[in-house]
Amino acid sequence: MGRLEVDQVEVDLDPIVRGVLSTAVGLVGGKPIKLLKDLPDPLPMAQGDPVRIRQVLLNLYSNAAKFTDEGHITLHIREEADRVILAVQDSGVGIPQGNYELIFEEFRQAAAGRRQARQGSGLGLAISRQLVNLMGGDIWVESEVGQGSIFSFSLPRIPASDLSTNTRQPNLMSEGQ
Ligand SMILES: Nc1ncnc2c1ncn2[C@@H]1O[C@H](COP(=O)(O)OP(=O)(O)OP(=O)(O)O)[C@@H](O)[C@H]1O
Ligand SMILES: [Mg+2]
Repeated sequence: MGRLEVDQVEVDLDPIVRGVLSTAVGLVGGKPIKLLKDLPDPLPMAQGDPVRIRQVLLNLYSNAAKFTDEGHITLHIREEADRVILAVQDSGVGIPQGNYELIFEEFRQAAAGRRQARQGSGLGLAISRQLVNLMGGDIWVESEVGQGSIFSFSLPRIPASDLSTNTRQPNLMSEGQ
């Protein structure tokens, strides 16, 4: 696999989420799949490369659409103390627990009851993991065969007090460890 490079900048997730959700409409095609979102308002600011974050989300949506026949695909975003978690949940075929790590390897395909029609090269998750790791995050899966899967990845969070647009005066009383 070639060398991948990523930027590390403050990322506004809002335009990325909107673009990915509109692309997702085409990915599910005519299947009876609802596209749902579970997002905080406002969205947290993350650190990373906007083009790469979009690429990872699109890989996850493309998989979710491919391995789901009906139900929903839901985007969850939540913030923790020092990271933002983005997760794409589907109600698809699921993945046996023994394959959770294997599917992140190159050229590996291991969905439950995989059909010939579900094709691909087996690279999407391997590239996604590389990109997320380069941005300082992790990517992982939880799943239940026959119920669906949830692919989550983390990005470093930019605390509100560190945003370059912030004009708030520093509070000296709360400085220091
Ligand atoms: N949402 C999902 N539900 C069920 N299985 C999944 C899901 N996402 C990935 N998988 C399993 O993990 C394998 C690897 O996924 P990956 O995206 O790396 O490759 P691919 O989709 O098969 O091919 P490519 O992404 O290169 O087109 C898939 O072939 C499938 O077996
Ligand atoms: Mg894929």
